[in-house]
Amino acid sequence: MISNGTLELSADPAGIAQAADLLRQGQLVAFPTETVYGLGGDARNGEAVASIYAAKGRPSFNPLIAHVASVESARRFVEWSDQAEALAQAFWPGPLTLVLPLREGHGVSSLVTAGLDTLAVRVPAHPSARAILEMFDGPVAAPSANPSGQISPTTAAHVRAGLDGRIAAILDDGPCGVGLESTIVGLAGESALLRPGGVALDQIEAALGTALHLHQSGDTLTAPGQMLSHYAPDVAVRLNAQTTHGDEILLGFGPVECDLNLSADGNLTEAAANLFAALHKLNSTGRPIAVSPIPDHGLGAAINDRLRRAAAPRDS
Ligand code: TXA
Ligand code: MG
Repeated sequence: MISNGTLELSADPAGIAQAADLLRQGQLVAFPTETVYGLGGDARNGEAVASIYAAKGRPSFNPLIAHVASVESARRFVEWSDQAEALAQAFWPGPLTLVLPLREGHGVSSLVTAGLDTLAVRVPAHPSARAILEMFDGPVAAPSANPSGQISPTTAAHVRAGLDGRIAAILDDGPCGVGLESTIVGLAGESALLRPGGVALDQIEAALGTALHLHQSGDTLTAPGQMLSHYAPDVAVRLNAQTTHGDEILLGFGPVECDLNLSADGNLTEAAANLFAALHKLNSTGRPIAVSPIPDHGLGAAINDRLRRAAAPRDS
């Protein structure tokens, strides 16, 4: 199916093969991962990577994650370590990204790392993502498939709403299971949590056997996803709301009366999976959004991180 030149591919062998072909040609393909939909391009092809930044309107200083099919493939691009091995064993394939020193002869475009001497790598778990990566047989740079700064996409329809006509294809394989971006752990210096995400901090610390340094604003090594206003709907967002004011619409959590509930049972995994779709939906009403308090443990930390950024004052 074609609309504005953006092909819709299905999650079958023909669709996977076409996605891999387009990537080989330097084209951009949006594909599902277990976290969010990614906007993929060949990480070794500078023009392809430049067109990712252009399609998203992304500031060029914000580096991208290289997605690969396996640990063996990741090790071709970065300096591996015991800590990397422990985390990869525990969580790959899955919603975890590791930032490691680039290895000599890596071949990845410097646009992927935005000139840093480290690379963010991830082996995703989603079957369609894995199939594309295996067939493509190379590193795929993939930020979330949304215009920069806006709400992340957890369905193919979200991707189309933001990027239709600006990318070659979207492979549709339904909604993403985790619904929050990967957790990013920096292992290039002192081990640090650079972004909370789909794997909870306590699980990571348990696998490492040590506590992670938590990013403080002002630290020099940052994941620019930590920019305060991010994941932003067009409408205002107010957090920790017990009731609504004026025209507000309530995004609930747990047993509360509300317009839309992230999880009526108070289940944080379910709430994470529903978060971005709920923000997309409420955003389309044009009404300001009030959000119930969400507990800050487990996946709640990543949910609250995204909500704080959605609620932050905008630069422009
Ligand atoms: O779940 C995910 O991680 C999704 C899916 C598509 O895999 N991708 C994603 O990509 O969230 P993106 O570009 O929206 O966020 C990547 C984050 C950014 O905050 C970026 O600054 C950080 O990773 N990052 C990338 N390379 C880095 C590096 N070398 N050092 C520190 N942070 C890095
Ligand atoms: Mg993003």
